[in-house]
Amino acid sequence: MITANEFIPSHYTQSVESGFFQWSAPSNIALVKYWGKKDNQIPANPSVSFTLNNCKTITKLAFAKKDNHASFSFDLLFEGQTKEDFKPKIQKFLERIEIYLPFLKDYHFTIDTENTFPHSSGIASSASGMAALAMNLMSLEKALNPEMTDDYFFQKASMLARLGSGSACRSVKGQVVVWGNQANIPTSSDLFGVEFPHAIHDNFKNYQDTILLVDKGEKQVSSTVGHDLMHDHPFAERRFAQAHENLDQLIAIFESGNLEEFIKIVESEALTLHAMMMTSMPYFILMKPNTLQIINAIWKFRNETKIPVCFTLDAGANVHVLYPENTTEKVLQFIKDELVGYCQNGQYICDKIGNGAVLI
Ligand code: DP6
Repeated sequence: MITANEFIPSHYTQSVESGFFQWSAPSNIALVKYWGKKDNQIPANPSVSFTLNNCKTITKLAFAKKDNHASFSFDLLFEGQTKEDFKPKIQKFLERIEIYLPFLKDYHFTIDTENTFPHSSGIASSASGMAALAMNLMSLEKALNPEMTDDYFFQKASMLARLGSGSACRSVKGQVVVWGNQANIPTSSDLFGVEFPHAIHDNFKNYQDTILLVDKGEKQVSSTVGHDLMHDHPFAERRFAQAHENLDQLIAIFESGNLEEFIKIVESEALTLHAMMMTSMPYFILMKPNTLQIINAIWKFRNETKIPVCFTLDAGANVHVLYPENTTEKVLQFIKDELVGYCQNGQYICDKIGNGAVLI
């Protein structure tokens, strides 16, 4: 089993003065949810996600050697403007990963970042943002050590991204990504995301995800706080065991293409995630009335048409509508006719399964 220590480099063969890299990294949507963590961003249970295609962060990392090596030095630009309020999160990230990237204090960095999805849409940019930054940092490490293998590059990028935001480790490489040890998935690891290694039925090819923007406001409870409330949670142990069971079942479902069974797991996972929030102490609710209106409308539509469309939720009020490619026309019509009215300013984003981060 790979341990985190294997990602601590012993020496670099090259020296690099200055330059830049630019990577895009997508968001992802979990089917089996990560909710609850141990120290060092180790997940309390394994998760699996579809990588998205259109919702991305694009980050350019410029670097120049500096004389003083005592502290981190970076500027942060978001959509071309200095963004001071994002800096503490990046500072903390750099502190966490310094042991794995010992060159960090040798450079001044300019991090120039933008998202393809609308600003403050309620879509979390932490997964795509941290993944894009981690990819850039790994490109710099590869320049310092060109011998590095691709496996090491992507595993370490995912491990670094995880230390920025857990779900970010699933935004690096592959269409379906597993994070967390799972007995039946031999390559799986608590340290980084891996491409789902078993067969995936054509039903899931180009799977569609239309994200309905129900509420764009700031969440009252951040994911980090929510994860923390799984300590001493009355249902935690059962929930963690259930995530393993659901992931096991998904292995067979991905292979057979059984969408009825897929829907059961995915919707149950979404509601269980929110049930954990409602049964935390303090308890909280991130769904909004329109979240429930949408869920009920999807159930009614599915019952009437037998079209295998389902929903999932992340830690917020927005609804991800998931459906196979060959139902796109009908489902989009349904969304336009019946669901858009529940979206804030009628906004929704059409996305689908994608491949992961890309060097630009
Ligand atoms: C509900 O990855 O945002 O989306 O590790 O504290 O940054 P941190 O949490 P984060 O949690 C995501 C939780 C989730 C489920 C999931 O993506 O698996």
